[in-house]
Amino acid sequence: QPINTLEDVRGLLAEHPDFPCPGVLFQDIFPIFHHPAAVRIVVNELVRQISEHFGQVDAVIALDARGFLFGPLVCQQLDIPFIPVRKAGKLPGTVIERSSTKEYGADVLAIPAGAAAACTGAIATGRQPRAVVLDDLLATGGTAAAAVALTREAGFEVAGFAVMVLLTELWAPLAAGKITAAGLTEDQ
Ligand code: PRP
Ligand code: MG
Repeated sequence: QPINTLEDVRGLLAEHPDFPCPGVLFQDIFPIFHHPAAVRIVVNELVRQISEHFGQVDAVIALDARGFLFGPLVCQQLDIPFIPVRKAGKLPGTVIERSSTKEYGADVLAIPAGAAAACTGAIATGRQPRAVVLDDLLATGGTAAAAVALTREAGFEVAGFAVMVLLTELWAPLAAGKITAAGLTEDQ
């Protein structure tokens, strides 16, 4: 079927009850990647939302693993650096680490300590780099909150958090932390 609109893209999300554990309704985003047109729509919309909600940003901080599917594509359009937040133990060099709790488990996340140096334009003019944090999906916001804290610890101002799927019922902890989130698809 032709994929022309965000609504068409939303229809590609596949729901899996009780995965990866009982009580969780898992949203699988990979079917989007079967359709190049759907990927283009998502990336264009993320770029539009980032520009509209957060203005000019100097970097995108995207989250291991599924945030990496969108991070470099969004960065290419915005013409700014992509910086990874990874699960601990994967990044070489000096890193800053933080533990996080998500809907169905716990992780330790890490960011390169010197990541802000990639924003050469901001650094050259003595300005603090502004970053948007990007992921595929926001559920409880535990992952997002840890990533935002790490991004700040690495020397960035955080403009906001951008996500493809925003499960608004679950994200109260992030809202309480006063981080604005922009999402393409919401559950209410
Ligand atoms: C998933 C999803 C988000 C996070 C959202 O990542 O990609 O990053 O959970 O949950 P939260 O809002 O409750 O924190 P997960 O680590 O499960 O898998 P991934 O490595 O495939 O991205
Ligand atoms: Mg993830």
